[in-house]
Amino acid sequence: MNILKMVGTGLIALLAGIQLIPVDRDNPPVTAGFDGPPEVEAVLKTACYNCHSNETDWPWYAYVAPMKFAVADHVEEGRGEFNLSEWGSFTQEFKDHLRHEMWEEVEEGKMPLPNYVWLHPEAVLSREQKETLRQWSLQAAQKPAGEGEGDAGHEEHDHEH
Ligand code: HEC
Repeated sequence: MNILKMVGTGLIALLAGIQLIPVDRDNPPVTAGFDGPPEVEAVLKTACYNCHSNETDWPWYAYVAPMKFAVADHVEEGRGEFNLSEWGSFTQEFKDHLRHEMWEEVEEGKMPLPNYVWLHPEAVLSREQKETLRQWSLQAAQKPAGEGEGDAGHEEHDHEH
């Protein structure tokens, strides 16, 4: 058997093998859904819900290794940052903090994740959709903000920026 054939057979066996590794693709129940303005909810549903809520619309490639590992990872991390299906249970401080953060990430083009947008062109936000988020984030600034405690009830950030 020539070396190429051996490598090829090995690769196929490996690809078949990793299909068997399970990943979590749960959509847990929505305990306290988003209670903000409907127009904001619509924007978030278009661009953020797949990773930041329990209402994930799992794509076909979420069932195929190795892509499924990346998808499951993003959803787990996204839900870990903040889960819009638990929004109703957040404190006002945390909601204000998040509104601010969410707009900041969108404004800087960091969210939705660029490699997600590539496969989900519908998640590219229009000028109007961005304006909706911006206006909503500004409402938070009207309240006297407690310094440095915006992270109340928030999990540790284990990544930079
Ligand atoms: C493809 C999955 C995915 C989508 C879609 C997505 N996010 Fe995220 N989001 C993540 C992941 C993963 C992280 C944590 C890692 C990181 O910050 O890059 C994150 C982190 C965040 C953070 C915290 C950033 C920080 O540094 O503290 C905010 C805020 C955020 N996302 C907002 C949004 C908003 C708003 C949308 C929709 C416009 C959105 N995300 C869409 C996956 C996603």
